Amino acid sequence: MNPLKGRAIFFVTRNINKFNEARRVLAEYKIAVAMLRLKTIEIQDDDVENIARMRAIDALEKSNLPLIVEDAGLFIKSLNGFPGPYSSYVYRTIGSRGILKLMGDVDDRSAQFRSVVVYCSPEEQVRLFRGVVDGKIATEARGSSGFGFDPIFEPEGGGGKTFAEMTIEEKNRLSHRSKALRSFAEWYKGMR
Ligand code: IMP
Repeated sequence: MNPLKGRAIFFVTRNINKFNEARRVLAEYKIAVAMLRLKTIEIQDDDVENIARMRAIDALEKSNLPLIVEDAGLFIKSLNGFPGPYSSYVYRTIGSRGILKLMGDVDDRSAQFRSVVVYCSPEEQVRLFRGVVDGKIATEARGSSGFGFDPIFEPEGGGGKTFAEMTIEEKNRLSHRSKALRSFAEWYKGMR
């Protein structure tokens, strides 16, 4: 029998919004999750997956607990995928307003959010789960819920609303993070 059966897993994040989204998705699968506010190394890499993998391994070394980390990026087509793996830095420096300025009146506003969830535990190998959502960069910021670039991202299938105009439940029906988490949850449930 798996010794972890019935125990909570830990989501290593300092972002309460991400945690709240994850808690709700994982609850659908009856997976209990606790927030672990651990500071992890953040390597510079052109690949979000490498960044997430390194953070997960670092968190496991520091905590010795079964855990997930999640990293995401916003990839804008007309900017050749920028800010991508640099999304967090770009958000902190120029923010949503800077992105809107960079886009100007560009016609092709297609963009994609990509998420990677990495699971690791003292007993198991590192596993990666991915989720993407296509959408558009809005022409102005709208809405006040969520975090990060939510006010400027209109996901496909969202009726023209930005993520920041949605409830957590609505965002979780469409988002990159919820898709990666669901893929993780299916695997995790199958394993026990
Ligand atoms: P992180 O490194 O996974 O935290 O994500 C990089 C940056 O992308 C963050 O600073 C956020 O601004 C942004 N981001 C990630 N996920 C989301 C999301 O679900 N909505 C809006 N912005 C997000």
